Amino acid sequence: MSAPQLSSMLPKDTFSSRVVIVTGGGSGLGRAMSTELGRLGAKVVITSRKLEKLEATAAEISEETGAEVLPLACDVAQADQVDAMVAAVLDKYGKIDSLVNNAAGNFIAPTERLSARAFGVILDIVLKGTAHCTLAVGKHWLKDEQATGRSILNIATTYASTGSGYVVPSACAKAGVVAMTRSLAVEWGNRGIRINAIAPGPFPTKGAWERLLPGDLVEQFSMDQRVPLGRVGDPRELANLAAYLLSDYAAYINGEVVTMDGGEWLQGAGEFNMLKAIPPKMWDMLEAQVRAANKK
Ligand code: HXC
Ligand code: NAP
Repeated sequence: MSAPQLSSMLPKDTFSSRVVIVTGGGSGLGRAMSTELGRLGAKVVITSRKLEKLEATAAEISEETGAEVLPLACDVAQADQVDAMVAAVLDKYGKIDSLVNNAAGNFIAPTERLSARAFGVILDIVLKGTAHCTLAVGKHWLKDEQATGRSILNIATTYASTGSGYVVPSACAKAGVVAMTRSLAVEWGNRGIRINAIAPGPFPTKGAWERLLPGDLVEQFSMDQRVPLGRVGDPRELANLAAYLLSDYAAYINGEVVTMDGGEWLQGAGEFNMLKAIPPKMWDMLEAQVRAANKK
């Protein structure tokens, strides 16, 4: 099964004259969101630790969409680098309209194998990184509470709510990101700032799959089988949702965490969902057994 080949769902000028920062915009889902925002007219600032990668991605997105894309090196775990990045964006464009907190670090490991630094490095990137960017941009925005169209989108995960073994620092950090989303949606909602999140299920990007399904794990644990829709996500599907949530079309959506996982987490959660494995022809026999039990 494959994703439908869809074009942009929003009008071409949805983000024209808007400036959007996408952290971790040089690869994977960040790149897909940056491309879609560029296609819809935004000036996109893509940031991460590796400038060379960002420069190559920026050139490719500009070529594909015609958008202005500004690559800026910034380690989100370092508050001073985030402040400098935000200052550089304001210096160049004079304003920021939206922020996508997408940068993340993650790897699989039995939790007892983690050092304190290994745990901390994930919290620093995911939770503190999101806080650093949100604070830097939010403090600037709150100098003018009358401005409109300002929104933040945080990229969480489905296991931020359920928890997950083997990625415990990431689960803790993403849960914090969801708490931040809901808290600030209320605190800043009447001051011209909306904050939402997407909780993606499996989208096989290079960055995620190399660290979460290394070697032949990818064949051993087929992600397609975990999803009721029978397939993984296409980054363009997530990019369309991200663009919508950031745009004025979603002006009454605030504090929402939208799951996009093809129904994956529900399949894992439902007590009897394992019965999907029963072949249809067995149901006559099972029904007879249950009915017989009712008569006893
Ligand atoms: C145990 C490990 C480890 C491993 C690193 N460490 N890998 N411990 N098992 N596999 C430990 C190191 O020994 C070190 O601790 C500490 O973690 C930091 O490691 P560094 O390599 O020094 O860190 P750094 O160079 O900053 O790299 C950060 C990183 C790396 C997070 C470890 O993976 C990275 O750069 N990731 C960025 C991209 C990414 O992760 N993308 C995937 C996002 S997917 P000590 O004590 O030895 O110093 C996602 C959700 C997907 O988030 C959900 C799918 C459904
Ligand atoms: P990815 O390509 O590895 O994206 C992570 C990005 O974060 C990279 O561009 C990386 O760039 C950047 N980054 C890492 N550490 C950083 C730091 N300290 N400062 C600034 N940037 C940093 O993986 P992805 O799959 O697209 O992940 C994107 C987002 O989706 C993440 O928030 C992830 O948790 C979330 N997510 C993904 C999936 C999935 O199935 N793919 C599922 C659920 C959630 P540099 O290395 O250049 O810094």
